[in-house]
Amino acid sequence: MAKLNMGIIGCGDFLRWQANGIKKSSLVRVRSLFDPDAGRSKKYAALLGGSPVGSADEIFADKSVDIICLFVPPWLRKNMVIQAVKCGKHILATKPLGPNIADCAAMVKAVGKKVRAGIIYRRTGSALFETYKRIFKSGQIGRLALYRQDWLHHYPQWNNWATDPARNGGPFMDAMIHNLNIARYLMGRPATACTYSSAKLAHRELKCGDTEFMKLDFAGGSAHLFITWAADLAVHSTQGNDREHIDICYMVTDKGWRLTDCWQDDKQVVIASRLGKKKVWPVKPLGGTVFDRFAAAILKKGPQPSDLPDMVEAAQDVTIYRQAERQLGKIHKVKLPR
Ligand SMILES: NC(=O)c1ccc[n+]([C@@H]2O[C@H](COP(=O)([O-])OP(=O)(O)OC[C@H]3O[C@@H](n4cnc5c(N)ncnc54)[C@H](O)[C@@H]3O)[C@@H](O)[C@H]2O)c1
Repeated sequence: MAKLNMGIIGCGDFLRWQANGIKKSSLVRVRSLFDPDAGRSKKYAALLGGSPVGSADEIFADKSVDIICLFVPPWLRKNMVIQAVKCGKHILATKPLGPNIADCAAMVKAVGKKVRAGIIYRRTGSALFETYKRIFKSGQIGRLALYRQDWLHHYPQWNNWATDPARNGGPFMDAMIHNLNIARYLMGRPATACTYSSAKLAHRELKCGDTEFMKLDFAGGSAHLFITWAADLAVHSTQGNDREHIDICYMVTDKGWRLTDCWQDDKQVVIASRLGKKKVWPVKPLGGTVFDRFAAAILKKGPQPSDLPDMVEAAQDVTIYRQAERQLGKIHKVKLPR
């Protein structure tokens, strides 16, 4: 199969996390990279191939670039998405899609069906969440009724925008939005109602809250999504996301099965238990990298890879969060644009 050329805009910490996947991909090749900090684009060009360039416009204007990776902070994404679409480029970006509902709506409108867009989340490339999805879809232990997530880590310190509510948000928008997306994916039905709270328990120096909780209801189900930056867990480096994480997750179906995952003999498994009985499913690896799956979908005009949310889904996540934030403590209906 032909290879697609990628231009990368934004060579910060997120690219560090994606670099291995890009290196392992066989259907994409890096053509050019831009970051206002030229040292960063040079460093990743040396690692991934391609040429560092002096402006994002050079990447937009390059006719040989098929896919643009917008690995920039959320408040910069809208204009770049609009420009990418104008230049006929497919788009890979990440969460949160934008800082507010209006930016997200503008990006969804710009993309329409003109180009392909994929938004990389925590569930992207995760064979584990695809395994959970298969189990719930099969119906063999009932429908997902409770998705419960507790997540603790220190607040981000490697940039000056992540804790700013106007440019990004607090812990929910910055991190728990991954699990909001996972919960919606695994529930497989629309969210109906929401209750949300935010508090500053330890870090009064932050512009945002440090402890946030959302209860998101679905027909016959609920997601309980709790995150805190209040505890000063270990920070291994302030240059990037190298922090101690405590992550507790379990799920329960409407037939009373509790699901968790763990490693057994170096193999990851999902385990369901009920009344002392157990069922075990192996987690089967996904084929290839997300970059290859996205490129294959473009080349074959195939469906979006199931582990790669599209722009509408990512915009809905931001919309749910921003609507909830305006109605602190109040149970309210979830209203999503069609
Ligand atoms: N770091 C992580 O672990 C992680 C994980 C998942 C998602 N994300 C998401 O990735 C995105 C980027 O976050 P990050 O952690 O890489 O932040 P970062 O601050 O480390 O990197 C952002 C990069 O964008 C560059 N940049 C700033 N203005 C630019 C412009 N006008 N044009 C091009 N580049 C510009 C910066 O110089 C910087 O190198 C955010 O949406 C974030 O939520 C990050």
